Amino acid sequence: MSRFSFSDDAVPLELLRERAFNLRWAQQPADVIPLTAADPDFPVCPAAREHLMRYVSDGVFSYAPPEGLPRFREAVAEWMSSTRRMDCRPEHVFAADSAASAMAVVARASLAAGDEVLIPDPVDFLLQHTVERAGATPVRVSVKTGTSAAEFIAGLESRLTPRTRMLWLCNPHNPLGVVYPRAWLQTVASWAVDRGLRILSDEIWSDIVYPPHQHTAVAALSPELARNTVTIHGFSKNFALAGLRVGCVICPDTEWRRQIVAASDAESTVYGVSVLSQVAVIGALTGGREWLAEFVRHLHGQRDYVVERLKRWPGVTAFAPQGTYVIFPDMRNLDSDAERLCQRLRDRARVALVPGAARWFGPGAAGHLRICFATSRGILSEAFDRLDGTLIEMDARASGG
Ligand SMILES: Cc1ncc(COP(=O)(O)O)c(C=O)c1O
Repeated sequence: MSRFSFSDDAVPLELLRERAFNLRWAQQPADVIPLTAADPDFPVCPAAREHLMRYVSDGVFSYAPPEGLPRFREAVAEWMSSTRRMDCRPEHVFAADSAASAMAVVARASLAAGDEVLIPDPVDFLLQHTVERAGATPVRVSVKTGTSAAEFIAGLESRLTPRTRMLWLCNPHNPLGVVYPRAWLQTVASWAVDRGLRILSDEIWSDIVYPPHQHTAVAALSPELARNTVTIHGFSKNFALAGLRVGCVICPDTEWRRQIVAASDAESTVYGVSVLSQVAVIGALTGGREWLAEFVRHLHGQRDYVVERLKRWPGVTAFAPQGTYVIFPDMRNLDSDAERLCQRLRDRARVALVPGAARWFGPGAAGHLRICFATSRGILSEAFDRLDGTLIEMDARASGG
């Protein structure tokens, strides 16, 4: 028997309706089920909560060092070394107030106006947004679930210019759910470094991977790739800490890291992560392994369930995610306009989803929907029962039935 529960009773619906924003329960009418933002419906792991409570009860909340609490940096380094054999030392770690902010700080430190950054299409909107906010230009390169390293490199090569500075990757990939195999990453990352590019590898999803797939960190591939890579990690997806806004940059290159810390303005205290957020992460990383394993087991079951349910939708195809807790079905046979379809499903089925709109994922997402399944089986099956009804009705109308 597991010590942890991910059953219907474990979902604190009343609290979520009050506290879960970002397109979720607190921002939807009471009868709408949100399978929107990738944020679990379950509370934080007990180890994080207990560690935080002990720290709070001591009542001492002084400044942390600019790079983060020593225990935070040690806990991240130990996690990265033990779970993916990265040569990650505490001094490589810089605490950031979310993975989103970690990427923004790296972009500010590494890019200038006119620089170009190669990013996949589709991918989470944050990559494009962050490059643009740094004054640089994102250049999209198409990637699909089955794109080989050679095909991706051909796309990268065709978009390479003298202004290209970096390649940004997302692995596991949101929204495609692909976990890139070692050989794929090795080929793509070596191509980039051979052309003098640096790599940002957004690995926030790397703790949510379903067997037999395994996460490979770009920075674990070789010392040369590690020197030219910053890894972004976060704690919103694995440990349900989204509201605490905490993540990190891992950068083994001393000079590059110095520039990142300087660009953040942490040394002047203008920027800095709340110690409480760092303490929650220390608790999660040092005491939350068993909880995380159980959470991933639950998600694996949810993944299989969603894949089966999607087979009932006429003409819809979906790749079974190898990692992440989102699935990205191609809905074009039912409706070519994902925004319109999403609106219909929300109005009629009372289920909110994320449309494959360019503003969320890039032009390569057209005609798809993103469905988050980090909830209980009861909520998920209720959502799919509702969606089935509306989609079957739409299909019958389209075929004149
Ligand atoms: C690929 C990817 N990167 C970064 C983030 C942002 O995470 P955080 O909540 O730590 O800012 C997300 C959240 O959805 C994500 O999916």
